Amino acid sequence: MAKDFSSMEDSNRSSNPTIHEISDPARRIVVRGGLSAAVSGLLAPLVAGCVGPQAALPGMTAVSGPQIGFKGIAASVADTIVVPEGYIATAMCKWGEPVGVPGNMPAFRDDASNSAADQTVQIGMHHDGMTYFPIDGSRRGVLAINHEYTDDGLLHTDGIKTWTAEKVAKSIAGHGVSIVEVAQQSDGGWDMVRPSPLARRITTATPMQITGPAAGHALMRTSDDPTGTRVLGTLNNCAAGPTPWGTFLTSEENFIFYFNGPDKPDAHQTRWGLRKGGRGYRWHEHEPRFDANRQPNESNRFGWIVEIDPTDPTMTPVKHTAMGRGAHECATTTLTRDGRVVAYMGEDARFEYITKFVSRDRMQPGGYAANRSLLDHGTLYVARFNADGTGSWVELTAGKNGLTPQAGFADQGELLVKSRQASDLAGGTKMDRPEWIAVDPKSGEVYCTLTNNSDRGRAGFPAADAANPRARNTMGHIIRWKESGDFDATAFTWNHFVLAGDPSNERPEAQGTIRGDLFASPDGLWFDDRGTLWIQTDMAASAMNKGDYARVGNNAMLAADVVTGEVRRFLVGPVNCEITGITSTPDLRTLFINIQHPGETPSERSDPAAVTRFSKWPDGGRPRSATVVIRKRDGGLIGT
Ligand code: FEO
Ligand code: CA
Ligand code: CA
Repeated sequence: MAKDFSSMEDSNRSSNPTIHEISDPARRIVVRGGLSAAVSGLLAPLVAGCVGPQAALPGMTAVSGPQIGFKGIAASVADTIVVPEGYIATAMCKWGEPVGVPGNMPAFRDDASNSAADQTVQIGMHHDGMTYFPIDGSRRGVLAINHEYTDDGLLHTDGIKTWTAEKVAKSIAGHGVSIVEVAQQSDGGWDMVRPSPLARRITTATPMQITGPAAGHALMRTSDDPTGTRVLGTLNNCAAGPTPWGTFLTSEENFIFYFNGPDKPDAHQTRWGLRKGGRGYRWHEHEPRFDANRQPNESNRFGWIVEIDPTDPTMTPVKHTAMGRGAHECATTTLTRDGRVVAYMGEDARFEYITKFVSRDRMQPGGYAANRSLLDHGTLYVARFNADGTGSWVELTAGKNGLTPQAGFADQGELLVKSRQASDLAGGTKMDRPEWIAVDPKSGEVYCTLTNNSDRGRAGFPAADAANPRARNTMGHIIRWKESGDFDATAFTWNHFVLAGDPSNERPEAQGTIRGDLFASPDGLWFDDRGTLWIQTDMAASAMNKGDYARVGNNAMLAADVVTGEVRRFLVGPVNCEITGITSTPDLRTLFINIQHPGETPSERSDPAAVTRFSKWPDGGRPRSATVVIRKRDGGLIGT
């Protein structure tokens, strides 16, 4: 979701310190885990000067041979997909196509007259994070595709002019996850396999299990579910990723937008941004559980990381509360050397946090069945970035770091429901909207996009700090850190990989440090197995191609060599879309990305009566989010 909702994505009014305050030696936090003086001495001057992309962190390995081989493309404002010479890009898995449930495959109708029941077995709207799970290696697999939100002006024939229970049901069915089987065809292209026994839609009405320390907690109980362990659906599914044991994690981002708040929200509701009227989805008018006046705890049951087994269409998805609650953008997993899982997560909201979960137990062979409780026991941390280039992970456990009953955290269940308040009190660093997180397979460094934050430095808001170094940060940046030891370390060193921007911008803070092609508002972020870093952008439709973004073109995908720092533009999307979602076949010869909301209007809700739409991608009719299959004409590795 691109829009920089100044009033909606900013509910952090906590007074925990910014880096400026932490850098005061009198208040500096002792970095646990031990960090050598030599290392901090090396990095401190680099960070203080906002390092350029060349500066490697200790332990970074050099890559032999050119990382990026394609000829970069120019910025574009065309209503089409542009890729480099020698590459092919084709759309599939478009919103409204049947996913392939046997015996139930209603065709898409371009006038949006498909019913809510149709939508429950058709691909959802507004594709986002996505993972390819191999069935037959790089030839056939399952794609799990997130659907972040709906444009109800496009979803229904007459938009929201009349508002009915049927339309609410269709909107609910347009959210969630699509599980589709895909296969390479004899001509090298890809298509969906339909029908498929694996095809499935998961929506905001699909029954799910709640596990972990907050399961059953009083704050998780509703009159529909007095046990606090069962919930209908997942919501605003943003970035995502695979687990090392073969399941799919999906995150619930701006879930609070869907809830109608009371006239006077309490402190907890205010901290989570609950407002009267929500953000215009109007589900509560026909679904009482989305009205906090009637079900005050229902919103506590969203904001979690959800696990789905893409190989078992009967599996009940699980919300793992031990991983914390947030407007989660992502959950990126890796393993410690002894086999425990580490998940990095960010909250895409202004001045919110980056967190990390470390499991208590080790992964076992045997897929989901052998690891179903792995994400239910472990330790949650919030990141603190110090001004000297060091950082620490502060534990979010009841009874530690001031997180006491007196401070409002009676037990771990309450702490997890109130993860933001816990991070406030524990002194996490307030970031410029953390989006995706990616782990470099070669160096083990962890990269995170901070998409933008135009409130940074404004009167009444936190000032620029070392980790978020620019006031009125319209362009965004990518930060990276190296754990001091294994991934479960509680100390790290950090610097910036790049500050996005336009060197010809008259505002020095918007010029950035890019070595190569321009981009702004980095969002999607992913390393392929060769170690190429792929960056996807999400400038808001209301802001694109004007102001600071005047020369940046449509949203794009770029490839970066993290050793040389070079960034090269690989793909530009159609008008007013976001580029998001990225995954590949194991052989790196097919890349899948998503085009989200082509032709989005500045208000994010299309006018159903509009004669001309901003985009006609992909088929010349109603604009539709879709997956794009990218191959090299010579069958070579993507990016070379
Ligand atoms: Fe779902 Fe933060 O984009
Ligand atoms: Ca975004
Ligand atoms: Ca995003």
